[in-house]
Amino acid sequence: MKIAIVGLGYVGLPLACAFAEKGVEVHGVDISDEKVALLKKGVSYVGDIKSSEIKNLVKKGLLKVSTEFNIIKDCGCIAICVPTPLRKTQDPDISYIIDSCEKIKKHIKKGAVVVLESTTYPGTTREVVCGILERKGFKAGKDFYLAFSPERIDPSNKKWNVKNTPKVIGGINKASLDKAVFYYSRAIEHIVPATSLEAAEMVKLLENTFRAVNIGLINEMAQISDRLGLDVWEIVNMAKTKPYGFMPFYPGPGLGGHCIPIDPLYLSWKMKSLNFYTRFIDLASEINGAMPHFTVMKLAMILNGFSKSVKGSKIIVLGAAYKKDVSDTRESPSLEIISELEKLGADVKWYDDLITYGDVPGKRIKKLSAGALKKADIVVISTDHSHFDYDFIVRNSKRIFDLRNTLSGRKSKKIFKL
Ligand SMILES: NC(=O)c1ccc[n+]([C@@H]2O[C@H](COP(=O)([O-])OP(=O)(O)OC[C@H]3O[C@@H](n4cnc5c(N)ncnc54)[C@H](O)[C@@H]3O)[C@@H](O)[C@H]2O)c1
Repeated sequence: MKIAIVGLGYVGLPLACAFAEKGVEVHGVDISDEKVALLKKGVSYVGDIKSSEIKNLVKKGLLKVSTEFNIIKDCGCIAICVPTPLRKTQDPDISYIIDSCEKIKKHIKKGAVVVLESTTYPGTTREVVCGILERKGFKAGKDFYLAFSPERIDPSNKKWNVKNTPKVIGGINKASLDKAVFYYSRAIEHIVPATSLEAAEMVKLLENTFRAVNIGLINEMAQISDRLGLDVWEIVNMAKTKPYGFMPFYPGPGLGGHCIPIDPLYLSWKMKSLNFYTRFIDLASEINGAMPHFTVMKLAMILNGFSKSVKGSKIIVLGAAYKKDVSDTRESPSLEIISELEKLGADVKWYDDLITYGDVPGKRIKKLSAGALKKADIVVISTDHSHFDYDFIVRNSKRIFDLRNTLSGRKSKKIFKL
């Protein structure tokens, strides 16, 4: 059994490893020379995958990687895990899907099953992927098989990973579904079949819209609580003692990552073309998108209470990744907070030792010393990481603005909350 994984990022690399660990020969292809070179050397650039694991799989010949698409030619299953970002105009950018399908078309053989994993609007697999591949003269569902299976990976989650998280798969016909299930069952413990491609595409959008809308609600509650002089964290923690009918969501400086701030807008875009306006999605996006600004305004008020202006203040932002224990800075609200504070004239430094690449504004601190903390007018905990030494941070900081409720339970006049 040979499986091709197209796009070896946060989604593709763990999937490739899951198959290879089960003895399946994985042929990975990525357009990034840098990533392919690292993998060939046995170096992982994805937090949840250890370099030793890559080294071992490469050595055993179970993980072969290349920037050349001909590596996929003998594979019976081809999974596409390329990015699906937004354009500057907030419209879906499916150019990576189109590009990878054009290249797959050149090398795909009869009988192979193509599975799109990238999150996208309902209709993409049938209209775009099928459209391109059928131009080879092959008929989908007969000469080649076609399926969509949304990736549900939650980076840094220690309990749920690609293998034990149930996987939804929808096929263009029954034969395609069966073929995709046959391959995926080798590595995935539980498969949930959908009745169509579009149903499988929509499942992912419901999941991520559910999160975006609920986070939007709690972020609005944070602003409401602020006006009422209440602690939103206390309110959520008490509400969640209700054993039914309530699910806790937590406020924060805004949404980040490649999924939750983006995916619902794919659905919103699609629905506009059908003259339907997705009000919940758009409202949540507006509220969540304004959280970095709300955070900066609140920080300005805290400094004001000490007769300090943002201009000229020394500020340290702790954590620049979009969430706890990951190195990913895509869409991270910390970046917007740092930029806005710099525009207001603050001297902003940031510390996040997990980040190895990505453009972060402000000045990076390599080592968080007591001296640096003591000099700062305020320290902002924007992303918490499990390995940060919070006792040390609290001991040495003049004031702390805790956006994540990381220091909950510590009673100190120098700790301010969102
Ligand atoms: N990151 C997550 O937590 C997550 C979770 C679930 C779903 N998703 C979805 O999975 C998809 C991939 O996300 P990701 O986070 O892995 O992105 P990523 O940027 O980490 O990885 C994508 C990889 O694809 C490569 N690539 C781009 N164009 C290519 C092409 N034409 N051919 C071959 N390789 C190409 C890139 O170089 C990159 O290495 C997106 O649609 C995303 O919405 C992501």
